Parts: sequence; structure tokens; C-alpha cells
Amino acid sequence: MNEVYEKLRACADAVRARTDFAPRVAIVLGSGLGAFADGLDEIVSAVDYADIPGFPQSTVQGHRGRFVFGYERGVPVVVMQGRVHYYEGYAIEDVVLPIRLMGLLGAKTLLLTNAVGAINASYRSGDFMLLRDHILYGVPSPLIGANLDALGTRFPDMSEVYSKSLRDKVRAAAERLGVALREGVYIQTSGPQFETPAEIRAFAALGADVVGMSTACEAVAARHMGLEIAGISCVSNLAAGLSQTALTHEEVQAAADAAAPRFMALVSAAIAAMGE
Ligand code: HPA
Repeated sequence: MNEVYEKLRACADAVRARTDFAPRVAIVLGSGLGAFADGLDEIVSAVDYADIPGFPQSTVQGHRGRFVFGYERGVPVVVMQGRVHYYEGYAIEDVVLPIRLMGLLGAKTLLLTNAVGAINASYRSGDFMLLRDHILYGVPSPLIGANLDALGTRFPDMSEVYSKSLRDKVRAAAERLGVALREGVYIQTSGPQFETPAEIRAFAALGADVVGMSTACEAVAARHMGLEIAGISCVSNLAAGLSQTALTHEEVQAAADAAAPRFMALVSAAIAAMGE
């Protein structure tokens, strides 16, 4: 058997040894959203990443490492409290292992959340954006290597990574909640350095509205498996060159924390809509 697939199966077995919970929606929590998992309507069980042999451990401050299983608005969910990023030094197949794992555990839909820098000049810090599409820039495809036939096809279609029907549902849910939601294109860089102003001008020309370091590769792996995906970004800062001040991780974290209560309400509403 393929090494990547063997490791994935072993991780799935380790989780299954601890819980038989069957999630319908999988959720990845971005910066500032960690507390969402603690506040689920009902927590049924939790599995620390450290207790899953071979599972990549997140090294980023502010990211807690565990899966939380439970119910939100009556929808059975698995929540990733803390993700791993390519810039931490993991092989790309390890970066997306948690996503594939949640798919193997039975999740049919995936909600990806993140903090981003705004490239689109009309966006402001604290805005939310629904992902319409993405650009994977300078990050290898997580599908490179022998194809995992058990998961999906060798050359998967990516013409609708972020499901139109889920986007409609999430947009309607945001409207009901009274939260403004933009819709645009996310570009993923490897990081960990923030971009230069010249890079941001180039990304604007490529058609990107926001930039981040996490989500597109996860979406590619999930789409390969046939998961239906929705993505919501929280703008934590204006991208390099669009504001007068230098970027810091602390600023991103503080802005993400400040937006967290509104973001959590939006995520909860999105889960209810996705579980319909
Ligand atoms: N660039 C890349 N990733 C980010 C940013 C940014 O400006 N803000 C939050 N994540």
C-alpha cells in the first residue's frame, strides 16, 4: 500500500479507537476562532493530535491541537482546533492529512476558515469574505506523488472548488444574521514571511482579493476526495503596501481575536445552513 495512505489509515484507526462519532460537517478553525470548539452546543468527545501517532503537530502560537466532536445547531460536526501550515516545515501531504482524515471519518462537507490580508482596496479589517475561488501560489499541490485511488481520481476537476450551492446557503445565513459578507478570490502563499508590496500588486493583477497561508491546499485535497467545500475569510489586516504600518503576527492575531465573536456567530449560522 502507498505510504501516505497507510499513515492516513493508521491515524484514522487511532481516532476510531477513541470515538465512533460520525460527523457530517468538518470545520477548520483559523486564527482567533479556537474558542469556537470549546463553545460547541454539545461536545461528545475530543482527541488530541498528540495522541494520534504520526499526526503533524501545530507549532504556531494561538493554535491548539485537537479534534473536537459534537453538535452545533443539531448538526454532527468534527472541529479541527488548530491546523498545520506548510511554512512549519511539513511535507505538503502531512499538511493536508488532517483534512483527509476528517473525510475518512465520514464528513461530507468542509467549512474552512482563516485570517487573511486584504488585497482588494475596498476591503477593511474585520470584513468577512466567502471564497468563490482560489489561486495556489508557490505551494506544491498536495496531490503530487502516487495518486491515492481510494480517495479520488488522478486529475480532479477544480472548476468549482467552493460549492455554489453551499455559497448560496452560507450567504443566505449571513443575511439572516445581519452580517455583511463579501465574496472573492483567495490566494495562498507559502509564507511565513508576509508579502512584499510588489507581490501584493502582482496578486491583485492575478485577480486575488485576499491573501493567506493556509487554505487553498486543504481545499484541493478535500475536493480530490469529493467533499463539498465552503470557505470564509476574516480580514485581519490590509495587505503589504496598502497600509502605512508594518505587518506583525501580533496585529493579525489581535484583529482576528477582535472579530472572533462576530466570526463565531457567522460560523455557527454557516454550519446550520450547511447541515440542512
Ligand atoms: N498575508 C498573508 N497571510 C495573512 C495575512 C497577510 O497579510 N494576514 C493574515 N494572514
